[in-house]
Amino acid sequence: MKRPNPVRPAIQKMHGYTPGEQPNPDQPLTKLNTNENPYPPPDQVLQAIHQAVGESLRLYPEPSSRPVREAAARAYGVTPEQVVVGNGSDDLLTMILRTFIDPSQVVAAPAPTYSLYETLTTIQGGLFQSIPWHDHLSLPIADLVESRAKVIFVVRPNAPTGHLVPLASIASLCQQTNGVVILDEAYGDFADDNGLPLLQEHENLIITRTFSKSLSLAGLRVGLGFMHPTLAAQMHKVRDSYNLDRLSQAGAVAALDNLAAFKPGVDAIRSQRKWLSEALKKRGFLVPESQANFILATVPQKGLKAEQWLSALKERGYLVRYFAGDPQLKDKLRITIGRPDEMKGFLAVVDQLL
Ligand SMILES: Cc1ncc(COP(=O)(O)O)c(C=O)c1O
Repeated sequence: MKRPNPVRPAIQKMHGYTPGEQPNPDQPLTKLNTNENPYPPPDQVLQAIHQAVGESLRLYPEPSSRPVREAAARAYGVTPEQVVVGNGSDDLLTMILRTFIDPSQVVAAPAPTYSLYETLTTIQGGLFQSIPWHDHLSLPIADLVESRAKVIFVVRPNAPTGHLVPLASIASLCQQTNGVVILDEAYGDFADDNGLPLLQEHENLIITRTFSKSLSLAGLRVGLGFMHPTLAAQMHKVRDSYNLDRLSQAGAVAALDNLAAFKPGVDAIRSQRKWLSEALKKRGFLVPESQANFILATVPQKGLKAEQWLSALKERGYLVRYFAGDPQLKDKLRITIGRPDEMKGFLAVVDQLL
C-alpha cells in the first residue's frame, strides 16, 4: 500500500538552512567563515562550567534560566522579567515566530540579511518578504511598514554587510509599525553603540544578543532576548521547558559577571577589522565600513571570481564564507576577523593569489 507523504508540504518544498562549514578539528584550516571569536573564553567561565559538572547533573536545570536572567539584569541594567534566555539566539528567533506568527502572516526583513529568518518563517507557516535595503543601505522603513508584517527583523550591525543603521531609524520603524520589531544585535558588542536604550520607549521592540561572537561561547549555545515584561511572559509559554542546560547556565552567569574579561578580545578584533579592511582596499577589493567582527569584501573585477577565491583560499588553509544562492552577494566574500597572526597569514595568501 502506498501511503501519502506525511511530511507537511511547506517542509517538503523548503531547503534547510545551510550553516557555514565546521571542518573536522584535525584539518589544518583557519576558520574565518562563521564569525566565531578567535580568543578562548576567560578562565572564570571555564571554571564555572567545570564546577557545574557533578552530581547535580541528575536534576533538571532551572526552567526559565532565572540565574542567567538575574545576571543579565545586573550586567545590562534591566529587570530579570525583561529577559528571555535562548539555547543560542537562534532559539530566541524560533520562540519569537512561535509567539507572534499564525499561518500565512507576514514576516519581513531588509535584504540581504541573516538567511535563517526565512527558513524559520517557513517552518512556522508564515510568509517571508525580503525588502531590499534602500540606496546606501538605509532602512526601507515605509516598505517594511507597508508590508504589514507582524514581525520585522533588522540585524544591527547587519549580517552580512556589517553596516549599522542609525538608531533613529529603528525608533521610527517601531513607532510606525503595528508589528513587533526584532533588533538582532548578534554583533552589537563590536559596534559603536547599541539599541538597549530604545527599550524603555518602545513596547514593540525585542533585542536579541548572542554569546557566540563577542563572548567566545558559540559552543555553549546561549542567547538573550530583552523586551517588555508582558512580551517576555508570553515568550516563556512557547519556550522548550528546559531550553538551557545546567552547564550552559553556569557558564552564561560567569560570562555576564565577568564582561570586562572579554573587552581586550573585542578591542583587538575591532583594530584588526580596520587593519584588514585597509590592506584589502589597497589590493583592489571594495570593503565598506563594517561594525561587526567580519567584513564583506567585493573581490577585484580582474582575476579570480568570488567562488574561485573561496576554493583557492581553502586549498591554502583559509575558510571564508561565500553565499552561493544570493545574486546580490555573488562577487563578495564574508571574512571573519581573527587574531593578528591569522590576519597576516590570510593576507599573505591573498597576495599569492592576486
Ligand atoms: C545575525 C545573526 N543572528 C543570530 C545568529 C545566531 O547566533 P547563535 O549562535 O546565538 O544562535 C547569527 C549567527 O551567525 C547571526 O549572524
